[in-house]
Amino acid sequence: MKGVILAGGLGTRLYPLTYATNKHLLPIFDKPMIFYPISTLIQAGIKEILVVVSGPYAGHFIRVLKNGKELGVDHLEFAYQEKPDGGIADALLLAEEFADGRDICVILGDNTTDAKIKDSIDGFQDGALLFFKKIEDPESLRRFGVAVFDKDNKLLKIEEKPKNPQSQFAATGLYVYDNKVFDYIRKCSPSWRQEIEITDVNNHYIARGKANWTNLSGFWSDSGTFETLYLANSYWAKKHEDRQNS
Ligand code: DAU
Repeated sequence: MKGVILAGGLGTRLYPLTYATNKHLLPIFDKPMIFYPISTLIQAGIKEILVVVSGPYAGHFIRVLKNGKELGVDHLEFAYQEKPDGGIADALLLAEEFADGRDICVILGDNTTDAKIKDSIDGFQDGALLFFKKIEDPESLRRFGVAVFDKDNKLLKIEEKPKNPQSQFAATGLYVYDNKVFDYIRKCSPSWRQEIEITDVNNHYIARGKANWTNLSGFWSDSGTFETLYLANSYWAKKHEDRQNS
């Protein structure tokens, strides 16, 4: 399995913090944001990683990550997304050559989690594996892709940023795909927000009965807004303090 971290986009929701550098290099407690998804992959035994970058500060990533060796990465590659807000799936399409026919574990560069995903990765066979998280607050749910189940709890589809969420399960930015993902991306058209949506790709897998899902245990948050950036910082600072005191 290879790993792909999507760190494109312009981070406009975090202006003025992102005027001078890329969102994924902003601090989450004592590390740049992108160190967290790298660490999630490394802990799962995935050490060949592609980072998709874009925007005016793409060069800053090399200064921070170098060749990845200090972080335990065996092989680090970069790809440049020409349209910085073309969408998550548009960014993922750039990983086709890197994947080279293998399965891939994809993480959004602004997601941090302390969930251990190695068992899920090791047990993956084919299709897609989607990681969901139960979110109690309906207002927060509306910012995510939200799962829709039938009365027997079978996954029917994911709705992106629904006004009326049909469940409490949000799609986190963590996905495992087989190599068909690239064909499904090519079938997708831009959404209302002019992005190629990862939710549409996931719905291709679901419609073909090739998507499984699992609950992401532990802490998970994105950090693309002031509130979630603060939430993630608070969580990781507290975790560090608890570790020091134990
Ligand atoms: O965080 C989980 C959510 O992420 C999911 O529940 C949603 O289904 C999914 O669409 C996504 O929602 P957002 O609208 O919050 O995604 P955002 O545009 O903030 O992009 C998240 C990351 O994806 C960002 O940190 C970098 C990467 N990205 C995004 C875009 C739009 C790219 O690499 N290229 C892009 O063009």
